[in-house]
Amino acid sequence: MRRLFTLTIILSIFIPSLFADEGMWLPILLQKINEKKMQEAGMKITAEDIYSINKSSLKDAVMIFGGGCTGELISGEGLLITNHHCGYGEIQAHSSVDHDYLSDGFWAMSREEELPNPGLTVSFMKSMEDVTSLVLKDVKPSMNQKERDALIRKQIKMITDSLHKQSGLEAVVEKYYYGNQWFAILYQDFKDVRLVGAPPSSIGKFGGDTDNWMWPRHTGDFSLFRIYADKDNKPAVYSKDNVPYKPERFYTISLKGVNEGDFTMVYGYPGRTEEYLPLQAIRMQVDEVNPIRISLRDKRLDIMNRYAAVNDTIRIQYAAKNAGVANGWKKWIGESKGINRMGGVAKKEAFEARFNEWASSQAGSQYKDVLMGFKTLYDPYNYWKRSETYFQEAGLSAEVIRLALRFRALVQMSNQKDSTDAAVKREALKLKSSLDEFYKDYSVAVDRDILVSMLNSYVAAGSSIRIPAYISNLVAKENGESRNVVLEMFNSSFMPYKEKTYEFLDNYKRKRVKKIEKDPFYQFAKAMVDFSITELQPVTGKFNRANDSLMRIYMAGQMEMQSDRNFYPDANFTLRVAYGNVKGYTAADAKNYRYYTTLDGIMEKGDAGAYDYIVDPKLRQLWVNKDYGQFADKTGELRTCFIATNHTTGGNSGSPVLDGEGRLIGVNFDRCWEGTMSDLMYDPTVCRNIALDIRYALFIIDRFAGAGHLLKEMRIEQ
Ligand code: ARG
Ligand code: ASP
Repeated sequence: MRRLFTLTIILSIFIPSLFADEGMWLPILLQKINEKKMQEAGMKITAEDIYSINKSSLKDAVMIFGGGCTGELISGEGLLITNHHCGYGEIQAHSSVDHDYLSDGFWAMSREEELPNPGLTVSFMKSMEDVTSLVLKDVKPSMNQKERDALIRKQIKMITDSLHKQSGLEAVVEKYYYGNQWFAILYQDFKDVRLVGAPPSSIGKFGGDTDNWMWPRHTGDFSLFRIYADKDNKPAVYSKDNVPYKPERFYTISLKGVNEGDFTMVYGYPGRTEEYLPLQAIRMQVDEVNPIRISLRDKRLDIMNRYAAVNDTIRIQYAAKNAGVANGWKKWIGESKGINRMGGVAKKEAFEARFNEWASSQAGSQYKDVLMGFKTLYDPYNYWKRSETYFQEAGLSAEVIRLALRFRALVQMSNQKDSTDAAVKREALKLKSSLDEFYKDYSVAVDRDILVSMLNSYVAAGSSIRIPAYISNLVAKENGESRNVVLEMFNSSFMPYKEKTYEFLDNYKRKRVKKIEKDPFYQFAKAMVDFSITELQPVTGKFNRANDSLMRIYMAGQMEMQSDRNFYPDANFTLRVAYGNVKGYTAADAKNYRYYTTLDGIMEKGDAGAYDYIVDPKLRQLWVNKDYGQFADKTGELRTCFIATNHTTGGNSGSPVLDGEGRLIGVNFDRCWEGTMSDLMYDPTVCRNIALDIRYALFIIDRFAGAGHLLKEMRIEQ
């Protein structure tokens, strides 16, 4: 052990790390694994400053924002910053044609004007501890995955129940290294989070989907919210009596800006990476799954865009949905390209050859057959994976089908003998009240066209995938004319129409359940669910169990084989630290990118006059005046975004980008096009995270929006 340790040190001194900049590290292990390297890369503070169990640390100012982003506190009065695209759903929900906060921006000029957001939660991680031995206490190597999973679930329930009881906090147990390690994590949740400010989309979403996943980028991708707590500074549901939360810790903002080579780190919640998968999994993703998703989303986006271009109501209704669909679509295009460009398949092949060689040299090794195991498992599974992808992306993509699924609880209750009439009625009204949000943003015309298009594609793929018999029969009835089928459904159903549905639910009696059961969309939805339960899930479940079991062994094997390498666990939406340096990159032969962009670039793009590059006249005037004040770089420029080598992924959006002293210099929001395959494979030459320069955000708040009062609550240093 000791000998191995010395060898590691010698190796790491003389061989420049092969894996420089790759990695999303566990805050509790920073001191042990990363601190020294981080300091060599330019960090001035200690691991203890970033994460401490004993005192307040930088971790106390970073949070999960909503379901899938990161945010950070920037004032002692609960003010937080995240991305515009992370607050987009909330900004959109407060918007209508009359109050179009998407187009015009929103700025609360006083606390009273801050807007509550039912359903929005932010969570702070309070602590984290290794519970592997507890979780695996009764697990025996001889158990199959099903038995193992059942025992683990039981243990986890016990652990989380007891932690919750002790602390009153949300407790979860998360899996790392594919089940080789387990951590219990405690979170504190806040549910009264109010919208404070958002720039207009022409700033917050500047470049739109044209620039999404791309560099050079000029997006002012930020929005501001405020956490409210009760009078004792404790989390509470929304109440007008709540007061701004006083946090233990918030980030100091630095106006110094960055130079090439500067140390940076990103503290946040990366969602999912899969760096340790076998060759078959990469192939399936790149050759099977991505092409299907891309082509189906091409069609959906075409339809939404066509309507949005000529109809403002629809443009607003579909803004958030469109952005979501487009975001995945574009990333998968980049990911497949990136894997091909870096020869990802050949790299995995070479690695696996080495792995097999190593495994067979280990006497009695459990690793010898693991790669063969994947092959046997994946070959037949590709067919099912394609089927599942179509099911998700075509079968369930019409909104009205997902709406119909929401009637299931009511149907069940109506058919249950032991439920009372009053309870059934209550259920109907509860359903009704949950539908406002749906109808506010629903267009029959868009959804109808999407359903037609998706049915056509679904049926056309029929020979290479399993498709629900219900779908083929439905379309066969009209001689393959999906449009007729769909028109007929929209004619005979009540569900797409708000008034009809509300009238129906207002006067609901249990015998009216027949009407739901006969509804064409309900039948469609039910056929989808049945198909999933009887045909897809059994196969997928079996695959997942076998795969989980192989992955656990394969992961352990990879770690054993490369015992001189520090492994970071794949991302699982738990708190991580990534670090690296500010750095440009070469995207293609002679195509060298500088590490930052400026307001001048916004004007250049704006002059080209494209739809995604609309420049607000007020912003243009500020640019003409060149009055950037304290927000200007020492070069005199107003910088908008910069890139660095931090390893990030979806979920890291909104994450604080910190300098060597732990001060906030940017807000993370994206990655560069050539590096979007980093979820599967990281290439240090082209993988870059994109951050908003914090000075641009402050400039917009102060000079553009005239909300300078917000800067007064921040701690801003030169
Ligand atoms: N690509 C970034 C991320 O994955 C930004 C997404 C913003 N959405 C958009 N459609 N422009 O979240
Ligand atoms: N834009 C992503 C997010 O929303 C970040 C990324 O994928 O790099 O989390």
